[in-house]
Amino acid sequence: MIEQFANKIIKADVLETLLRLPDSCVDVGVTSPPYNKQENKKGWLVKNVVYSGATDKLPEDEYQDIQVKVLNEIYRVTKPGGSFFYNHKTRWERGYMIHPMDWLRKTKWTIRQEIIWDRKIAANIRGWRFWQVEERIYWLYKAKGKSLIGKELESKHALLTSIWRFSPETNNPHPAPFPLALPVRAIYSIMSDAKGGLVIDPYCGSGTTLVAAKILGHNYIGVDITEEYVKYAERRLRDYEREIPLAEEELSKHVVTKTFAERKERGEFVGRHRNHTKTRDKALFD
Ligand SMILES: C[S@@+](CC[C@H](N)C(=O)[O-])C[C@H]1O[C@@H](n2cnc3c(N)ncnc32)[C@H](O)[C@@H]1O
Repeated sequence: MIEQFANKIIKADVLETLLRLPDSCVDVGVTSPPYNKQENKKGWLVKNVVYSGATDKLPEDEYQDIQVKVLNEIYRVTKPGGSFFYNHKTRWERGYMIHPMDWLRKTKWTIRQEIIWDRKIAANIRGWRFWQVEERIYWLYKAKGKSLIGKELESKHALLTSIWRFSPETNNPHPAPFPLALPVRAIYSIMSDAKGGLVIDPYCGSGTTLVAAKILGHNYIGVDITEEYVKYAERRLRDYEREIPLAEEELSKHVVTKTFAERKERGEFVGRHRNHTKTRDKALFD
């Protein structure tokens, strides 16, 4: 049954589509949903995000309710032991902070980690708050057996730390794409060198997650309601080889140059922070 969806993009509503998928078929997912930014949150450096085929302006309660339903459907279609990476951000509405945790805790997922995506550049450079250069990526996990957190990451992935630094994507006509390196990092960290898994992006937009999955040798399912983005994503997937060098740049960061034991032996068992401190202290006393 999954064959009818594999390696396709379905142009339809996310919930309607997820309800048609069988249980426990997906290995990993990555997505960035619409943020419900009320279509009025433009900054000085960015264009207002307006999707041509969908609204991003719902009453916040309704929006969060939909997100819980989508996340629970993704949970159902994910295999036990599978992971989902959910990109979102903190927002403010009339002075009140709205945090993704407000609805993530209502879902069935184990929240395995909150990753900071440092975009290095702020969208809105007003001074009401310190410039918001970060978004969040929630690593959600579907428990397998009794263990709530499952297997450890291989060190070549774990050393990349909980702060991911990627500049925003600029070479893409979609109004809010993430850079290819982001889903490459997420998928590769979970699946490592295995091939042939199934990756989902339920709000796939320009198809960035699907291109990452294809380059890494996996199958994919994409969903997006906007025809224009689906067509663009399909073109991108046909030409996926053009994006291999970008993916390779990310993969080249997943390497352990020295093992923990080797660092300890050389007296380097101090971590990056301590090294920085040493340099700073030395400067203070020089
Ligand atoms: C933040 S964008 C995703 C961008 C994507 N990560 C990329 O790199 O291009 C969110 C997407 O959700 C889609 N969308 C909005 N409402 C939807 C719905 N109800 N069902 C399916 N897709 C929807 C929009 O068309 C938009 O492309």
